[in-house]
Amino acid sequence: MADDLREMALEMFSPLPSTTPAVNDNLITPAKIDLGKALFFDPRMSASGVFSCNSCHNLATGGDDNMPTSIGHGWQKGPRNSPTVLNAVFNEAQFWDGRAPDLAAQAKGPVQAGVEMANTPDNVVATLNSMPQYQDWFKASFPDEADPVTFDNFAKAIEAYEATLLTPSPFDAYLNGDENALTDDEKAGLALFMDAGCASCHNGINLGGNGYYPFGLIEKPGADILPEGDRGRFAVTDTADDEYVFRAAPLRNIAVTAPYFHSGKVWDLETAVAIMATSQLGADLNDQEIGQITAFLGSLTGTVPVVEYPVLPAETATTPRPTG
Ligand code: HEM
Ligand code: HEM
Repeated sequence: MADDLREMALEMFSPLPSTTPAVNDNLITPAKIDLGKALFFDPRMSASGVFSCNSCHNLATGGDDNMPTSIGHGWQKGPRNSPTVLNAVFNEAQFWDGRAPDLAAQAKGPVQAGVEMANTPDNVVATLNSMPQYQDWFKASFPDEADPVTFDNFAKAIEAYEATLLTPSPFDAYLNGDENALTDDEKAGLALFMDAGCASCHNGINLGGNGYYPFGLIEKPGADILPEGDRGRFAVTDTADDEYVFRAAPLRNIAVTAPYFHSGKVWDLETAVAIMATSQLGADLNDQEIGQITAFLGSLTGTVPVVEYPVLPAETATTPRPTG
């Protein structure tokens, strides 16, 4: 019986690999990882000098910012909740609407977004070139290139760093054969998560991040949770069928990344589970079932890699000054 549950689970989910995964067209080396880490923490990559990737994807708080929607350049509120960067390398596409194919393409977005970092590629490259230490690090990371300090390489280095942000959890230990890694409640929740149909959309390594579905497949949530202004993938594909279609959210570390949904309107995980049951499955789960599924989701909280806060290159007389 116990083995059956694990076997069923292994048909739907995969444990995290124990080593950094390979990514397309981007050889991951220790030098590149270290450079990407510096860039991830460097607020000078934003026009104001205030916002780094870590401002909205804080590695100390689950890789997100714990706000309904992010606050960026000039204290502006963005339109969506910040998803975690932890394990994001396993998402088949990035963003709530999947509009970026991979992490390197993704990393170019926030730097230029007016409500996030409000910078330009030219200014990022000028900033990097103004600091000899960064020039050396780019040379070491892209040794075959004559002119390694480019916006593309900036994004590739960040992608390499993000590929190391993996968080093995009790659920992985369970999938790998440790029967005692999950409590009875968590196992009951896992069984429900599969039987009720959650796993038909939330599956694979990240329990999501790999398919698109209407939010409100069976019953559309109210505008308080699904604001009418954000029509999801419709903005990407311009197809009527994609109205209010979003990527099935990846669920690793979900217990530590409240508030929930792209609107960030729901603060409590049990409520988010109950909303999913009615909106996506038309199922009326009782309190015990919701509690058990939520317990199972808690077993997806993993161990965050130890991150030593990097000391960043010192700016020079030619470093562009903060603006805005
Ligand atoms: C989405 C990384 C800067 C807010 C994402 C995702 C990644 C990421 C990997 C997609 C995750 C997923 O789809 O599951 C980065 C990096 C940054 C950066 C590498 C620095 C270059 C920022 C900043 C803010 C921010 C400064 C806040 C001001 C968001 C938001 C989303 C997002 C709101 C979701 C946007 C949407 O789906 O339309 N980021 N981020 N990010 N990030 Fe960042
Ligand atoms: C989002 C759990 C069933 C598609 C979420 C979130 C949770 C969750 C906790 C919020 C993620 C976050 O804020 O980061 C569940 C559970 C389910 C279930 C426990 C079963 C009771 C489904 C099904 C589908 C689906 C069957 C597909 C038909 C989605 C989508 C989102 C999402 C598209 C993103 C919604 C948004 O845009 O905010 N799910 N889910 N889910 N889920 Fe589910």
